Amino acid sequence: MKETTRSELFDLAGKTAIVTGGGGGLGRAICRGFAEAGARVAAADIVLDMASETARLIRDSGGSARADQLDVSSKEDVVRVVRGVLEEWGAIDVLVNCAGRAIRGTALDYSEKDFEAILNVNLKGTFLCCQSVGRHMAERRSGKIINISSIGGLIAYPGSIAYLASKGGVVQLTRGFAVELAPFNVQVNAIAPSLFETPMMAASRADPESQRYFMDRTPMGRRGQPEEIVGAAIFLATKSSSMVTGHVLAVDGGFLSA
Ligand SMILES: NC(=O)c1ccc[n+]([C@@H]2O[C@H](COP(=O)([O-])OP(=O)(O)OC[C@H]3O[C@@H](n4cnc5c(N)ncnc54)[C@H](O)[C@@H]3O)[C@@H](O)[C@H]2O)c1
Repeated sequence: MKETTRSELFDLAGKTAIVTGGGGGLGRAICRGFAEAGARVAAADIVLDMASETARLIRDSGGSARADQLDVSSKEDVVRVVRGVLEEWGAIDVLVNCAGRAIRGTALDYSEKDFEAILNVNLKGTFLCCQSVGRHMAERRSGKIINISSIGGLIAYPGSIAYLASKGGVVQLTRGFAVELAPFNVQVNAIAPSLFETPMMAASRADPESQRYFMDRTPMGRRGQPEEIVGAAIFLATKSSSMVTGHVLAVDGGFLSA
């Protein structure tokens, strides 16, 4: 293997990335972090305006970006966006599956409709994107896939039955794709965040009981800021993680250790 200089370890110059949920709190932070590290970034989101705003912020800072409307639960959409990015940029080096939804509710009353809606986006959407982009990466014998799971993919808490199931599934999707794509030099890892201050967490933030539940169990005693996810994502997107695959990296202020 060619020797890597220290400056190359965290470098994304000349690389291309797709970030699903790229208009959201964590997705936008990751898009901007990747662009600062030199990547061309496709922000893909079901809300095109949000993706466009991410792309605008990157271009205004001198980076290169595009915005795509994408519903990750639609195979047709996924294939269309992957084809569009490949036509413009020729290759996809990094995929971040950051699109996600949460609908709270107690397990015994949770509706089938909400259960399917959450599984469709968080689990099936991650599968479809891993499969479509993974195929391209396997052919190129190069690639990095990062799935955004959650501490709720590894432990349980009340009020989130479908979310927990979907994020546990994302952990196992990550391991399954990691094992099958390893021979093709494609590394597949996950990030498990605890509570971060994003639009998704607005409902939970407004619920003092839920906040107390999480803060009491978080040794660092605070929520994360979206920018605090970027270092982990850059590590898993670059040469610095060349021997890391199938791993779930907690970015959780110590939650899972307590
Ligand atoms: N914020 C947290 O505390 C936290 C904790 C653990 C895990 N996560 C995970 O991080 C990821 C990002 O969440 P966030 O906190 O930035 O939330 P967010 O709501 O700000 O962002 C999620 C984005 O996904 C997009 N989206 C929803 N459905 C989609 C679909 N079908 N296709 C494409 N895009 C879709 C939304 O439009 C939104 O822009 C999610 O997977 C979430 O489950 C967040």
